Amino acid sequence: MFIMDSIISIIKLFILKRSVIPNLVSLTCRAIMHTVTRIVQMSELTALITGANKGIGLALTQQLSALKFKIFAVCRNTSTELNSVDLNQGSIVENIDLSDPICNLDPLKVAIGSTSINWLINNAGILSVENFDETLDFDAVRKQFEVNAIGPIRVTNALKANLIQNSKVFIITSRMGSISDNTSGGMYGYRMSKAAVNMAGKSLAVDLKPSGISVHLLHPGMVKTDMTKRWGQGISTEESAAGLIAQMQSSSMENTGNFKHMNGEELPW
Ligand SMILES: NC(=O)c1ccc[n+]([C@@H]2O[C@H](COP(=O)([O-])OP(=O)(O)OC[C@H]3O[C@@H](n4cnc5c(N)ncnc54)[C@H](OP(=O)(O)O)[C@@H]3O)[C@@H](O)[C@H]2O)c1
Repeated sequence: MFIMDSIISIIKLFILKRSVIPNLVSLTCRAIMHTVTRIVQMSELTALITGANKGIGLALTQQLSALKFKIFAVCRNTSTELNSVDLNQGSIVENIDLSDPICNLDPLKVAIGSTSINWLINNAGILSVENFDETLDFDAVRKQFEVNAIGPIRVTNALKANLIQNSKVFIITSRMGSISDNTSGGMYGYRMSKAAVNMAGKSLAVDLKPSGISVHLLHPGMVKTDMTKRWGQGISTEESAAGLIAQMQSSSMENTGNFKHMNGEELPW
């Protein structure tokens, strides 16, 4: 009886091996090929990221570096962390301050030259808290407009000659800029500037469509960075950047002009 059972088990294992193992091997090979193909495809792409020296911009730079993007990391001042990222033959472009109303982006244009940009990531942003009380500082409201709302169109305009068919423009916006999602009020400058940049992104999506360039508004989630440290909560920049990159990869002309959370959820305007 024991011998019979053993023989049956061996036959079963043999059958199982013949059907399962080749399938497993083929699935694993396909997964490896898929990953290799993706990395090879990505290695031909160039990304430009503003606000690359810290926070979400730095995490995006680090993860796109691992995906072999050539990266132009734009910032006011570089950081030790940014200096240690392999930009895959790209470069760090410093002294780009988007709060200056007569901000001259000629040095940025010179640094990029005629290089085509496949992913233009407008990430730089500021937040200050103004509520409908003594904290309502109109200069602070104006400054957030300059950096958060005008900055992305200023940068996109300066680099429009570098955008080509199938390039993607991303704006790291915020769900705080959603009018229908606003149930808590306050935060005048930040909310207004992010609502304004959402509108700018939508117009850009329309205007760039004939050139085959798509535009996407992405919310990174509540992320622990210098911007949010006063609240002391949020996900890591690594988690946010991974979600953002997944959304960026699935962005195309088909969904140009969309407003999404990094977790894939469509957000209300
Ligand atoms: N953290 C969140 O929970 C959250 C949520 C929703 C949306 N966002 C958006 O995500 C983006 C990145 O924010 P973060 O959380 O990573 O903030 P962060 O750590 O404070 O980083 C902001 C980046 O923007 C740059 N920047 C600020 N003012 C600038 C100026 N005048 N000119 C050029 N660059 C300037 C900063 O450079 P310096 O180091 O020179 O200041 C820094 O690189 C922002 O657009 C923000 O609104 C963040």
